[in-house]
Amino acid sequence: MRSTAMRTHMCGELDIASVGQTVSLCGWVARRREHGEHLAFIDIRDHSGIMQCVVDNDVDVRSEYVIRVTGVVRARPEGTINSSLTTGMVEIGDCIVEILNSAEPPPFPVDARADDVDESIRLKFRYLDIRRERMQKNLRVRAQINSAIRKEMETNGFVEVETPFLMPSTPEGAREFLVPSRKEPGSFFALPQSPQLWKQLLMVAGVDRYYQIARCLRDEDLRADRQYEFMQLDAEMSFVSQDDVLENIGRAVVAAAIAVTGEAPPEIERITWHDAMNRFGIDKPDLRFAMELIELTPLFAGTEFKAFAGASCIKGICVDAKIYPEAAAFGRNKLDGLTDRAKKIGAKGLVWMKIGADGAIDSPVAKFLSDDEKSALVAVMGATEGDLLLLVADEWDTTCEVLGQLRNDIGRPPVHQGPYKYVWVTEFPLFIGIDPVSGRPRPGHHPFCQPHPDDMSLFDTEPLKVRALAYDLVLNGWELGSGSIRIHEPEMQRRVFNQLGISDEEADKRFGFFLQPFKYGAPPHGGFAFGIDRLAAILAGEENIREVIAFPKTQSGSDPMTNAPTPVDPAHLAELGLRLLPPPASS
Ligand code: AMO
Ligand code: AMP
Repeated sequence: MRSTAMRTHMCGELDIASVGQTVSLCGWVARRREHGEHLAFIDIRDHSGIMQCVVDNDVDVRSEYVIRVTGVVRARPEGTINSSLTTGMVEIGDCIVEILNSAEPPPFPVDARADDVDESIRLKFRYLDIRRERMQKNLRVRAQINSAIRKEMETNGFVEVETPFLMPSTPEGAREFLVPSRKEPGSFFALPQSPQLWKQLLMVAGVDRYYQIARCLRDEDLRADRQYEFMQLDAEMSFVSQDDVLENIGRAVVAAAIAVTGEAPPEIERITWHDAMNRFGIDKPDLRFAMELIELTPLFAGTEFKAFAGASCIKGICVDAKIYPEAAAFGRNKLDGLTDRAKKIGAKGLVWMKIGADGAIDSPVAKFLSDDEKSALVAVMGATEGDLLLLVADEWDTTCEVLGQLRNDIGRPPVHQGPYKYVWVTEFPLFIGIDPVSGRPRPGHHPFCQPHPDDMSLFDTEPLKVRALAYDLVLNGWELGSGSIRIHEPEMQRRVFNQLGISDEEADKRFGFFLQPFKYGAPPHGGFAFGIDRLAAILAGEENIREVIAFPKTQSGSDPMTNAPTPVDPAHLAELGLRLLPPPASS
């Protein structure tokens, strides 16, 4: 029931079945139009829709005035029916209009035309922007997701626990926001990058299944899928395998998708990290399109072509002219552009080939290839006339990454365009690369992920080959979330720290508050967190998470409405024991 002391219905609720009823509606004036000498139309708007009201011409209201209209619902005369409105069959006649509040002219029209207004203006007047149908819908999509997740998690026995915002600095990877302590000048709290620390402690504490729709804060450069503040469905479970975590998180994601779209997505596929890299050249593969990376190393085993001879990994992609006619027909300039792009990503070069009639190959390097190589290539790539082949030779990871990026550049649809393709990416490496300073492996995710039990024989000798029980959820090429089975035994934790070049003493100093509790009976446990802003954006059909956040920051990290961040009074700083350095000289 939406009726209140002031209204009987919402504006969008009335239809032909309501004819004859006396109703009161409250809302904002969307439009006023003169109609002859004595009559005017007022469109009244609330979040549910718009209703046309017929009023006396002397009713003096303007755009965005707040009004209450009382009158009788009647069918619109034939010829005046508006089929683009759900309420377009009816109007309210014999209206009494009360002005509840006047309004200054809005800085932009409070309708779809504001989509074209500069975003900083939309954010400066966000409260007006949110009055619009698009934003009302987006915020409600988000609320539906939160509600569906809560229900699903609770059905599955998860307990919502709130965790602190003021905490010590933790080793999660991103830059933290710091909060100076007034009581202990010179010391700082950090705001949580995620509740990781707390949720693991809750497992030690016997909570068994924890969840929280948690606000997280990270001082990173902002992008379409990144804000300083964002929300996660954060969860942790005890006595579980990876499958238990994926199943439970999968249920929450499916419940959220059903709540918004009314349909369950198809069963979420799984792919290992190695296969994702090998086939799609990226750890967040977009499975809405094919153009897979094709293995060519054996084909060029004995090649005379210098750039390929002896290369450890040669792969290619086939740009299908039937699917990507424009890219397949790229001229010299565009192909040079692709080559530059490949080099920027790390390739030594890029071979392109255009396939002509009967599999003929047009390419600057065609003359270096034997006829057998050429015909085998066309066959292995499944190429036909008009297609464009792009080939890279390098170390496995570079070859995959370069082609993965080109594949995305050429084929990837906007993230919010259907269908929805969810995929679990499992078996991430425990370590990725060597830190140039310490000469030690770097953690793939964070240093608390459980190494894959099948790889422990490689742990001391070939650590970069060790997989972790760590997994991501990907949707349409966006990383939606990630998680892992955690290390729960101090000895295993010590071995991982040692690989990272962190001594027992240093570990105690840096992470003692986290490690100490693990000595008191930590159960095996694992968990996951996914980004609600990202899921909401995609399900709402938006390309940028700012569109599903009520009050986001701009890409440059400020809020045009409140002007935050703002300087503070020196006295306030002094109280915190802080003094500002002069700003860095501009270059
Ligand atoms: P991770 O750091 O991968 O994992 O974060 C999980 C998910 O949170 C979302 N996300 C963001 N969304 C918007 N803006 C950002 N700046 C931003 N950063 C992250 C993404 C991401 O996949 N504690 C671990 C999880 C775990 O191991 O249980 C964690 O936070 O959707
Ligand atoms: P080069 O012999 O360096 O002049 O290269 C001949 C062609 O092969 C050029 O089109 C280069 O872009 C390309 N090329 C060179 N090295 C590689 C490589 N490692 N992988 C793919 N293409 C390459």
